[in-house]
Amino acid sequence: MQAAQSILSDGVKPSGLTGVKNIIAVSSGKGGVGKSCLTVNLASSLRKSNLKVGVFDADISGPSIPFMMGTEDFTPTMNEDHLISPATTDDGILVSSMGMIVPPEQALAWRGPILSSAVNQLLNDTAWGDLDVLLVDCPPGTGDAQLSLGQSEKLSGAVVVTTPHRIACLDARRGIELLMEMGVPVLGLVENMATIMCDECGHKQEMVKEVSLEKGEVSGARVDTLSKETGVPLLGQIDYLPELAALADRGVTAVRALHMLSDKDHSKALKDKISKVVESYDIVAGKVRKNLKGFEDMFSTK
Ligand SMILES: Nc1ncnc2c1ncn2[C@@H]1O[C@H](COP(=O)(O)OP(=O)(O)OP(=O)(O)O)[C@@H](O)[C@H]1O
Ligand SMILES: [Mg+2]
Ligand SMILES: [Zn+2]
Repeated sequence: MQAAQSILSDGVKPSGLTGVKNIIAVSSGKGGVGKSCLTVNLASSLRKSNLKVGVFDADISGPSIPFMMGTEDFTPTMNEDHLISPATTDDGILVSSMGMIVPPEQALAWRGPILSSAVNQLLNDTAWGDLDVLLVDCPPGTGDAQLSLGQSEKLSGAVVVTTPHRIACLDARRGIELLMEMGVPVLGLVENMATIMCDECGHKQEMVKEVSLEKGEVSGARVDTLSKETGVPLLGQIDYLPELAALADRGVTAVRALHMLSDKDHSKALKDKISKVVESYDIVAGKVRKNLKGFEDMFSTK
């Protein structure tokens, strides 16, 4: 706490959010459904279309954004306005994370109000400069950090991530209801890990199949149901791509991987797979972009 307090000083200073036009929260009810992975890939996709993009990691006890964006070795400094410098990725995305200033072991002992005020403080105290959009990777659940973020007037809305699993959808529904109660516009749902492709024959298989014990298999459509019942649109579906997990482990987003792969024959199969997942992220990014202040007229799905 002390280390954090010394760098997060409370004096009167400009808010680092002054030049930020939009904040979008990426949230889910359930942990592990792919919020962070969606956040970094969405950021890369929005950045590709020349937006000024930042990512804030609000997950204090398990900050994964710096690892997924390759900025884990960055040491923050303080500028003349007493704002904390964010890291910058190779493709020019600004990154700030609680993990940069507080060791996660230490943060685990923090209680709700301290936690949410520390998260809010770093969000405000980061030198974001002028950004079109700041994506906030929320911790799992519907805790204090989300509650206090929900009160920010710059919050343009939230994207809720779920997998096709029933328990993830139930948690997502609770998350959606809470966001709605707080008056946060829920921009849409993203179904992550919807299908997986067979490496051998290329056929796609659903990750969750409903089983009727009497009649054999029928496929389920739970995210569709969640979308219909809550009135929250489905922004897109992202396949489960094992290579995407490996890229995330190496701090590389799908968009950046496409740039890094050569056009040689041996890269072609991988390039094709990554291109497909990038297309899915681009669809989601296009719909998110439509909801940003200042970009309403520039809607494109790609
Ligand atoms: N579509 C996908 N295809 C393959 N791997 C994925 C996909 N989405 C996420 N992953 C991987 O699954 C793991 C969990 O994802 P991630 O860390 O993004 O989840 P999370 O919701 O942020 O978790 P937490 O609740 O702990 O913050 C990560 O290793 C990530 O790289
Ligand atoms: Mg995460
Ligand atoms: Zn097959």
